[in-house]
Amino acid sequence: MPTLIARNLKTLKKALTSKKVEKQNIGLVPTMGAIHDGHLALVDKCLKLSQITVVTIFINPIQFNNKKDLKNYPTSLTKDINALTKKKVDIIFIPRTNDIYPSGFSTYINLKKFDNILCGKNRCGHFSGVATIVLKLFCLINPNYAFFGEKDFQQLFIVKKLVRDLNLKVNIQSIKTVRDKNGLALSSRNRFLSIKEKNIASKVNQILKDVNKKSMKNLETTLKKVTKKLYSEGVKKVEYLEIRDERTLETYKYVKKDSKKYRIFIAVLIGNVRLIDNMKLSQINQN
Ligand code: PAJ
Repeated sequence: MPTLIARNLKTLKKALTSKKVEKQNIGLVPTMGAIHDGHLALVDKCLKLSQITVVTIFINPIQFNNKKDLKNYPTSLTKDINALTKKKVDIIFIPRTNDIYPSGFSTYINLKKFDNILCGKNRCGHFSGVATIVLKLFCLINPNYAFFGEKDFQQLFIVKKLVRDLNLKVNIQSIKTVRDKNGLALSSRNRFLSIKEKNIASKVNQILKDVNKKSMKNLETTLKKVTKKLYSEGVKKVEYLEIRDERTLETYKYVKKDSKKYRIFIAVLIGNVRLIDNMKLSQINQN
């Protein structure tokens, strides 16, 4: 089936109820566009697991708490469509804001937990906005599978929780973070980094890797040292640097010491670009 581009709800519905799509397994890859190899790795997994692959491109205004950030969000629609068509995805859904949030729209997912830590702490309403659009896309597309990246680990966690809490019949699949040759996690925002800033960004990942080798006995001291190193490498602001249990998102202090299910989470400002990353700790060194 040649790639179909649906730019409104009517075309989407027509495509989803066509003979070719009927009774097939549908996989959904939600994105905000500015497609890069991280997105394409999700698409590859979706193409493998599902008979019909739907990719959405929608810059979701309600997950931005900063108007300037929303206005400056990168777009490369023609390039995105070319890349997705080349992958032979079945449907690209590119709705207008009005299709998703018609005037008078007033129903939002309210998260009682996990939205006031890490990326939610300084971005009030961000994860409520993410959960609302993800649920809306599930309602519109009714996928069997939906694909999310570990790069946004808290988002993946919250989406899995949404599915569990609301008994949704969607199987959530994830992929590991796709990185460039220097270890920098691919992100739509990387295109805003100057060469100098990109070098600093690559060091962030190296520094995180070093945490793995350090003693976790004096966690506070280790994290303080790492934060200092990040500033000395040219990071403008360390928004957070925390170790949490990946199964519960609880902080390191409160969980069993012998567990290996920990991740280090970071958000930094490099110049004016906000970048996030996270990494599984291969081992907790107690010595
Ligand atoms: P966006 O930032 O475009 O990301 C879309 C998907 O790609 C997310 O699941 C994200 O985790 C994944 N992704 C981004 N960079 C990645 C990388 N380097 N490696 C692996 N996966 C990566 O996340 C969003 O959009 C939005 O919040 C969305 C879920 C679409 C809701 O609006």
